[in-house]
Formats: sequence, structure tokens, C-alpha cells
Amino acid sequence: MSPKRPSGRPVRVLFVCLGNICRSPLAEGLFQQKVTEAGLDAEVEVDSAGTGGWHVGAPPDRRMTATAAQRGTDLSRLQARQLDRADLDEYDHVFVMDKANLHDTLALDPDGDHGTRVRLFREFDPEPGDYQVPDPYYGGPEGFDRVFDIADRTTTAILRRLAGVYGWDVPGGQ
Ligand code: 4NP
Repeated sequence: MSPKRPSGRPVRVLFVCLGNICRSPLAEGLFQQKVTEAGLDAEVEVDSAGTGGWHVGAPPDRRMTATAAQRGTDLSRLQARQLDRADLDEYDHVFVMDKANLHDTLALDPDGDHGTRVRLFREFDPEPGDYQVPDPYYGGPEGFDRVFDIADRTTTAILRRLAGVYGWDVPGGQ
């Protein structure tokens, strides 16, 4: 966690997965929804990106969009983009979905300048399992529900954690 609030601009939060069509857009959508509900839109900017470039410009996977919509989160306006080195300078907090994403993200940072800003998303999950969000892309529909459960409770935990760091008032915060 970055200890200080960046001066004069919102805190920037980025979620990263492989394709930027399943896990990280879900995390972005959920986190944005919680930021808005907490009245923190002026304080936080949220985005997501993929370490791979195959789906650049595409909307989220329709199975992910459908699961999210059924459970009250709109992902329909998101569009995939690829992570690049500049993101590591521009974002204050980067949360990656699995260890391959961690490796590929840190590979953009050969000098190790940004390592402390890049964290496994599930480090903040109260039930972290193996600390990785399973990739639902090649599995059945239950995988998308499972990813939703993980991302829902973890985005809540991350918002509370950042609220503690930056002094924001959020539901369930201190
Ligand atoms: P995501 O899922 O990393 O959660 O967006 C995937 C999406 C696409 C691919 C792999 C994972 N793919 O190989 O195309």
C-alpha cells in the first residue's frame, strides 16, 4: 500500500488479469460501483487492463457480463485494453488476479521501482484460498459465479483498506 495520498488528484486503482475480458473488468465494475455508492467518485479513478493483447477493444466476455448483470453490476460499457509500462507509473495501486499476472506485470518493471504497488488481489480477500482468482474462461457457468463471489467480497475489503489508508468514510470502515 502506498502510505500517502497523492496530492491534488484522485487515487488511481487498476485491476489486471490476462485477457481483460473476465476477471479484471468484473473487479473494475464492482469496485467502481462501491466507490460510487460510498460517494467517493471524486477521490478514486478505477480502470482495468490485461497483460495479453488478444482482446483489445472487445467488451467483456458475455458470460461474465451476464453473471454480473444478474447480480446487479453493469459491465456493458467496458472495453479491453492491454497493460503497458506507463500504467505502473500512473496507478497508485495495481491488483493482479493470479501469479502469472503478477509475473507478467512485474516484468514491465525491470528496475523494481513499482513492486510495492503491485499486489495479488486476493491478498485482501478475507477467504483468500490460494491467493489467485481462478480463470473462468475455459470452464462452465459456475466458474463465473465463483469469480463474482470472490471479486465481490475482495473489492469490498480493498475499499475498506484504502479508506483506512486515505481517511475516507465508507460503510463498514473504521
Ligand atoms: P481473463 O480471462 O484473464 O479473466 O480476462 C481470460 C480471457 C481470455 C483468455 C484467457 C483468459 N484467452 O486466452 O483468450
